[in-house]
Amino acid sequence: MHEKDIRILIEEAYEAKKQSYAPYSNFYVGAALLTAEGNIYRGCNIENAAYSPTNCAERTAIFKAVSEGERNFVAIAIAGSKEEYLAPCGVCRQVMQEFCNSEAFQIILAKNREDYVIYRLEELLPGAFSKNMLSDLPGTKPAANDS
Ligand code: THU
Repeated sequence: MHEKDIRILIEEAYEAKKQSYAPYSNFYVGAALLTAEGNIYRGCNIENAAYSPTNCAERTAIFKAVSEGERNFVAIAIAGSKEEYLAPCGVCRQVMQEFCNSEAFQIILAKNREDYVIYRLEELLPGAFSKNMLSDLPGTKPAANDS
């Protein structure tokens, strides 16, 4: 990705964070997902009084995109509450694995608007369980576009 596009995605993640609903942790997170179509989907964390229904910012962005018909993703930028790099949780990494090419998908962690690091999904989720492992089993339905 070009530096300019990385900066745009980081800015979008900080904008997304403004919508964060995190009254229990006060840990506000924003994410911005870039699709192969060139669209950006913002996501924020959404907490719940029952705690476990909480949805992370990354999954909010990914689910928004999938629900709008997009499944090809280039990169995601993540901005947390503290001035440090916030790595996605294990559940979000697994959701990324479902839709992204793990060798290519870039995870941009922003410490602030200036400083960032980039990881590939395969670095953050090595040896992942994926839908490929479910194929060719008796009774297994194809994963793509089965409606
Ligand atoms: N959270 C995210 O939104 N993304 C992450 O990568 C880590 C954690 C949220 C979930 C919860 O609302 C709060 O941060 C504290 O865990």
